[in-house]
Amino acid sequence: MSAPAPVVTDVLAGLPQVRDWQLVPGAEGDTLLVAGTPAAGDGSCPEDTADAVSAGDAAVKGTDLTALPALMGLLDETALLAMARVLDRARLFRDGGTHDAAEVVAALGTVPRHAWIVRRWLRTLVEENRLRQDPGSGRYHSLTAPGRQTYAAARRTLDKAREGLDYPPSMTRFFLAAADRLPLLLQDRAGLQEVLFPDGETTTAEGNYRDSTPSRWVNHAAAELVAREARRLSGSRPLRVLEAGAGVGATTGAVLDALGDAPVDYLFTDVSRFFLRAGRDAFGERPGLRRALFDVNADPVAQGLLPASQDVVLAANVLHNARHAGQALAALRELLVPGGLLVLVESCQEHYQALTSMYLLMSPPAGEDAWFTDLRKGQDRVFLTGDEWTRQLDAAGFRTLPVLPVPGHPLAVSLGQRVIAGRARPGPGRPDPAAIRSALADALPPNSRPVRVHAVDRVIRTTTGESR
Ligand SMILES: C[S@@+](CC[C@H](N)C(=O)[O-])C[C@H]1O[C@@H](n2cnc3c(N)ncnc32)[C@H](O)[C@@H]1O
Repeated sequence: MSAPAPVVTDVLAGLPQVRDWQLVPGAEGDTLLVAGTPAAGDGSCPEDTADAVSAGDAAVKGTDLTALPALMGLLDETALLAMARVLDRARLFRDGGTHDAAEVVAALGTVPRHAWIVRRWLRTLVEENRLRQDPGSGRYHSLTAPGRQTYAAARRTLDKAREGLDYPPSMTRFFLAAADRLPLLLQDRAGLQEVLFPDGETTTAEGNYRDSTPSRWVNHAAAELVAREARRLSGSRPLRVLEAGAGVGATTGAVLDALGDAPVDYLFTDVSRFFLRAGRDAFGERPGLRRALFDVNADPVAQGLLPASQDVVLAANVLHNARHAGQALAALRELLVPGGLLVLVESCQEHYQALTSMYLLMSPPAGEDAWFTDLRKGQDRVFLTGDEWTRQLDAAGFRTLPVLPVPGHPLAVSLGQRVIAGRARPGPGRPDPAAIRSALADALPPNSRPVRVHAVDRVIRTTTGESR
């Protein structure tokens, strides 16, 4: 009888430098995360972030920040009313009717990729006492839906509050247009892209990602962290920056302004060509700015980027698109020089307003009903909390900076968004991915090998994937 063919596990078991590993499944093949001897220390870095906080504060100077929580509250309340109305107009829960989540998803004609959003609506409406759930059967009943006038009044109040905070009118227009299209959006008979970019126009997205109070704060705080790196290099050579998911360039603009005349080699990237054109229109003349396609879900090296080639990697409102956050972070870390800086902007708080708007852009692609393979798997959520990001950065080999704004800051509660940063640790005991690839290639045929190998400091256990 012939011996069974070796598998990845057998090869790794023979490599003393590999203490822990995880095989992360992916559409283009598996990724192997390998960890060596656990790194000592708590992974946090007592770096001064006061300048970044001051830059954020200066960017919102003159805005009545005390009005922000009320606007956020109105957006969330209007979103709740919109969800309840969609369910009611589909005649669900009328006359004592009860339904489980699958029945509601089906009654709304929801495509599988958006089913998670309807499940979130149901959970949220229960939490907000607008719907009841039977604890035994799990079935939902007794919906409290708003009448037409109540809903119309909420929409008007929202727009007034928006004016008071100097938000562009496009902000409420987008939010309300999305709410009006919810039944069609859930059925994929309308797309939110067309609402956010009407006729290919980027003005609405700019209002969201550049001009809104939370965006101004986080973009300028993030920009100051990047500018500080340029000062550290003190002009000895251009600062090398890779921006992932640069989109309409809302964060790019703040960063380039903060960099001023400092020499820079800035790679403006996005997964979509549409945004590379937007980047050319917005920043075409800036010396040192290049543009390229880049997907955070694919191997950076296979996309033409070199290991240890960047001083800064920046990703604003992008990395939650990674199917596996830890894997994406490990891949980005390999692009950074030792001590290089990763700067993320992320929404870290769940706002109901997203459930009737932005979340429609965050479902898996058509034809897929599962998306994330990391700690979010099966949880019907997109965003990680600040603590979760910190743990992911630490495990991927970053010394984390304090998440901004820090607790106690006037915007800490209402902002929702956070600036999350870390420095690439040299990683003592970190296995060499090239040596692992070579050992796997010696023992296994190509179709039994992972397509990517990334070294991490620690493997974070998830319910998915094979691991030691
Ligand atoms: C919310 S927008 C980001 C806003 C952007 N930072 C700005 O200032 O305009 C998300 C961006 O991430 C991009 N994106 C989505 N999935 C991505 C992926 N897998 N890899 C890289 N970029 C991605 C989108 O095309 C979009 O431009």
